Amino acid sequence: MTKIISSALFLVFIRMASAQEPSDQSVLGKQVYMTVCFACHQPTGLGLPPVFPPIASSEYVVGSPERLAAMILKGNAGPMTVDGKLYNNVMPGQEAMLTDDKIAAVMTYVRSNFNNKAPAVDASVVAAARKKFEERKTPWTEAELKAWKE
Ligand code: HEC
Repeated sequence: MTKIISSALFLVFIRMASAQEPSDQSVLGKQVYMTVCFACHQPTGLGLPPVFPPIASSEYVVGSPERLAAMILKGNAGPMTVDGKLYNNVMPGQEAMLTDDKIAAVMTYVRSNFNNKAPAVDASVVAAARKKFEERKTPWTEAELKAWKE
């Protein structure tokens, strides 16, 4: 009897341990999303038009990982058309608030949720963008984002 119970517990333990591994980034990513991004883009990812744009089915989310990392680091401002609607607001940059790991995790999270399908992002991508745009202090404009070349 004890043997059965202990092997059952062992199996539960194995399941928990194996479930933990691959989802580490998504656990952290969801946590970052639900503490930072959700306030504007909403838990649904649908935003609050015409003030906050949706990140659901977003070209910016599934596009260049470098560009998305740069957007989260420095923010975006000024007129921007998303899903056919014009926004003219400011998204604050998170470079002082979030580590490379946290930004990579939230990128992976938004790229695999809200109707977006794009591969996971490694923290090294964020670290490289942070270094490359070290000198830049202002948010990106739509023109810059549209003309992005990695
Ligand atoms: C304080 C509100 C706010 C927060 C917090 C915020 N955003 Fe934004 N975000 C905006 C606004 C406003 C815009 C549009 C900026 C403009 O009008 O130029 C935007 C634009 C975007 C865009 C490009 C347009 C689109 O909808 O696809 C992406 C991608 C994005 N945000 C992702 C994020 C992620 C990921 C986070 C969390 C790390 C985040 N944002 C946090 C307000 C916010």
